[in-house]
Amino acid sequence: MDWGMKNRLSQLIKPDGKCMFLPIDHGYFLGPTSKLEKPGKTIKPLLPFCDALFVTRGVLRSCVPQDTNVPIILRVSGGTSIVGKDLANEGLTTSIKEAVRLNAAAVGLSVFIGSEYERQTLLNLSQLVNDAEEYGIPVMAVTAVGKELEKRDARYLGLCCRIAAELGAKVVKTYWCEDFDKVVNGCPVPVVIAGGPKTETELQVFEFVYDGMQKGAIGVNLGRNIWQNAHPVPMIRALRAVIHEKATAKEADDIYNSLKSGKKDKK
Ligand code: 5RP
Repeated sequence: MDWGMKNRLSQLIKPDGKCMFLPIDHGYFLGPTSKLEKPGKTIKPLLPFCDALFVTRGVLRSCVPQDTNVPIILRVSGGTSIVGKDLANEGLTTSIKEAVRLNAAAVGLSVFIGSEYERQTLLNLSQLVNDAEEYGIPVMAVTAVGKELEKRDARYLGLCCRIAAELGAKVVKTYWCEDFDKVVNGCPVPVVIAGGPKTETELQVFEFVYDGMQKGAIGVNLGRNIWQNAHPVPMIRALRAVIHEKATAKEADDIYNSLKSGKKDKK
């Protein structure tokens, strides 16, 4: 692997081999979704605790401080919306020249396997890998399911992750599911766990992240369950403890509760 590619991956994946990515890209198809109406305000207290920010060029330019040292994963697919016909009908929205101009550490796009737009989105991935590899920029593939959240099982997600890796993704982001080890074991590149819609309790998040980490994930790309939480900073810090300090789900819940109540020193 060339120096540039290695260097970018090492910005994203920390020396312990783990990573905590914070996605705030949801507006590209959801518009001003709850708690992300003003992305700059949402991320300000969270930036010190994330290992990378997953964001579109528009929000990057308008809402992210230029002097940040948080690496950027640029969302480069889109073209659909929640009120349109089919979320899967995505194209590439952002050139590699633009990714270089914005000093992105990686680029990310969605693939919709099993959808009407499977071929198109997989060819988007292949094209992006062709372009990005030329400049030493890693590609993160997002195995998206659109509105069909029930698709999230090990057989389907394992298939998606493997195909994304085969086409050249350097990292694959997928949903947690039962038997997550089957997903990770069939994927030759690192897997990060996506969050999905906000869960009822914080403990549920800590439990699936802990389980996913035990089963081989290298980290998370988790948004709504952090920034839609009433206490986003305690939430991200508790998740960091699972990812970087091997905390159990119960320990993370204790960390969350003590930070929330102010018992633990708030950074
Ligand atoms: C949205 C995405 C998000 O990055 C991904 O879904 C993770 O965010 P969340 O934890 O809120 O699901 O790809 O298109």
